[in-house]
Amino acid sequence: MKNDAGTLFNPRFGLRPDLFLGRSEAVETILSAQDSTNSPYRTTFITGLRGSGKTSLLSDIAIEFQKKKELVVSVSEMDDLLAAVIDQLLQKSRNIGRKITGISASALGFSFGVSLSSDAQSQSFRGAIGKILMALKNQGISPIILIDEVSGETKALKEFASTYQLMAREGLDMLVVAAGLPKAVSRVANERALTFLQKAGRIKLGPLPMDEILDTYLKVFSKSDPGVTYELVKMLAGQTYGFPYLYQLIGYYVTELSGGKIDGDVAAKALARSKELLFENVLSLLLRDTTEKERDFLFAMLRVSNENATGAIPGRLDGTTVPEVRFGDIANRMGVTKSYAVKYRQRLLDAMLIEKAGYGKLRFAPPLFSEYLSLEMDNY
Ligand SMILES: Nc1ncnc2c1ncn2[C@@H]1O[C@H](COP(=O)(O)OP(=O)(O)O)[C@@H](O)[C@H]1O
Ligand SMILES: [Mg+2]
Repeated sequence: MKNDAGTLFNPRFGLRPDLFLGRSEAVETILSAQDSTNSPYRTTFITGLRGSGKTSLLSDIAIEFQKKKELVVSVSEMDDLLAAVIDQLLQKSRNIGRKITGISASALGFSFGVSLSSDAQSQSFRGAIGKILMALKNQGISPIILIDEVSGETKALKEFASTYQLMAREGLDMLVVAAGLPKAVSRVANERALTFLQKAGRIKLGPLPMDEILDTYLKVFSKSDPGVTYELVKMLAGQTYGFPYLYQLIGYYVTELSGGKIDGDVAAKALARSKELLFENVLSLLLRDTTEKERDFLFAMLRVSNENATGAIPGRLDGTTVPEVRFGDIANRMGVTKSYAVKYRQRLLDAMLIEKAGYGKLRFAPPLFSEYLSLEMDNY
């Protein structure tokens, strides 16, 4: 049985949710960069784990700019990036009533399945975008380019980058917001052709604000079951760890399974199902992407944390804690020196699998990661 609330949560990737929470600071930073030519956020690189809300944030930014009648182009590095940028620039300038004359996508060899060699495409991209940006500038428009799923791997992104720099030097400015997984950051850092992203303003997606999660859950859940207790909702909010995907999953399953009554039994079932999907769709991929040495580090960290948790995050809503582990103890457990283990600590920090927790201490960063690792310990 479906109720009204059931449609409010949607645990699917790449979909901006109806109940979009807590990213106002990031959105504001980028919106205001449009008017301030010196803002480091004129190019922004958003990073975060799968499920942390990168695509949703890009959609929200697009919506906000469109409200201000700005010209927004939304592409993915994995698409035919250059062609998509040109196509959308032409298409959308038409949509906002700014016809660009003298240029058509098909004449430039873009669009509609016309495929040029990649060199020819690069040449034609520069020419095309230069003309378009000039035409837009004459009408007082500077477009916003949103690039999702940045990996730093494609030739097209490098071509986009060098063209971007060339255009900027000629005063043909664009605001660029890119989003990618943490591993894209290290790839970009090692790629000379992508300096524009290295210098970009960085936004790391952390947890959503707990009070907003609690508020939303209270509102939505008490519509399904007016008798639901505050304590139970607070516990459920705490179990999201502020992680957007988990927040959608738990919200979705609680309302799906409720049948008008949200009690401990419904909560337990919803949490179990949500956890399963988090493990399957996020945590297993994170572990799969690690190297053997990185796994040695993670499992050593898990063992130490099981033996001697030395601290906890204070103030978690539901009282749960994430243990903190001393780096020195992990190196000991691995049977290596600290100076050897330091390299793997850095890689895991970069991958956002662990985070610093005060002087010399670390903790697991993704929600329920230590629980997932405990299950995987046998396969390791
Ligand atoms: N700010 C937010 N508030 C509420 N839910 C969100 C928010 N950002 C993302 N989500 C939800 O989290 C899930 C993952 O979001 P998505 O944008 O696809 O993440 P990513 O692109 O980082 O993998 C989706 O179900 C989405 O609806
Ligand atoms: Mg995404």
